[in-house]
Amino acid sequence: MDTKIVIAKEGKMSESDLQTAGDILRQGGTVAFPTETVYGLGANGLDSEAASKIYKAKGRPSDNPLIIHIADKNELGALVKNVSESAEKLMKKFWPGPLTIIFQKSDIVPYGTTGGLETVAIRMPSHPVAQELLKVAKVPVAAPSANASGRPSPTTAKHVIEDLDGKIDMIVDGGQVGIGIESTIIDMSGDVPMLLRPGFITKAMLEEEVGEVLVDKVVLAKSKEEIESDDYKPKAPGMKYKHYAPKAELIMFEGETDKVVNKINELVAEDEKKGVKSGVICTDETKGYYKANQVISIGSRSDDKEIAHNLYGVLRDFDETDIQYIYSETFYDTGLGEAVMNRLIKAAGYRVENTC
Ligand code: TXA
Ligand code: MG
Repeated sequence: MDTKIVIAKEGKMSESDLQTAGDILRQGGTVAFPTETVYGLGANGLDSEAASKIYKAKGRPSDNPLIIHIADKNELGALVKNVSESAEKLMKKFWPGPLTIIFQKSDIVPYGTTGGLETVAIRMPSHPVAQELLKVAKVPVAAPSANASGRPSPTTAKHVIEDLDGKIDMIVDGGQVGIGIESTIIDMSGDVPMLLRPGFITKAMLEEEVGEVLVDKVVLAKSKEEIESDDYKPKAPGMKYKHYAPKAELIMFEGETDKVVNKINELVAEDEKKGVKSGVICTDETKGYYKANQVISIGSRSDDKEIAHNLYGVLRDFDETDIQYIYSETFYDTGLGEAVMNRLIKAAGYRVENTC
């Protein structure tokens, strides 16, 4: 398949590209586009056959449900059974923006989009390109992150091209995304709000609107065993799948900065003696302290937005090297840092060593 790649300059597609993208979506094709979180791979969310093309292009298991993206709150009513007062409050405060809300689905939403679930995840993105595309599409657009299943989410069109060129109809290049980490997911389909995936909208921000928010076990898990145990059924089915694991073995180190630096440098030196190449993920504050083949700063430790923004790009950069071990610092796990640590810990297969 020939993938048409078009550029959106300063948040705007040309009129003809916009019409083409809308036609593709209405006719059951696939279009990758930027959102404020990560790039998404869109198809008509009300058409099972269109949705199946997303699963095929990504190599995604068919029981992993998709998020439906809408341009306007008025589209919500047709897609869900009911909207609670609390859900209303969240939408008023955070839409358009990086918050996905789970509702009971209406009959028009096919199981092919929800992975067989009775619930549906809905999000209204704020990125101008996503907004104009959704408006012109005139259909709700199901869109997972536009990466091949098991790869880091794409934060640039180049990442999408690496994974999906030749497998989808169109890619809209809108430059690098702002946030860099997927939306927060909150389940409002039951009695109590439940956080299923941390993101830019933090638990504290949600609680300010709706009171207590519970956190799904999968977010709190400290080991693979906890998630894989028989008595645990993850609420977000995507969470049970093997998450992005870099080609190299990733190990995280927590503790006081000098101890972490010493430990990592020790391991790098041992690797070097064995002829093994290792790399480091660190911060601007510590970059000068490491001696390794590849030392990549993810940003300033005091700027969790910058760390989130760079995370997936850094992981992809390492995949392009022949590094065998990546040693990483840990980051503050409050605020947006919680989302960063949630993704990194999974990428490390829960390997976090304490240097104390
Ligand atoms: O920021 C984002 O959310 C991006 C952009 C493109 O919007 N999308 C994204 O989609 O991250 P995806 O498919 O990569 O992640 C969606 C997650 C999966 O873990 C999936 O299992 C969960 O949302 N999910 C979708 N529908 C659900 C539902 N009805 N109940 C529980 N979890 C659901
Ligand atoms: Mg994804």
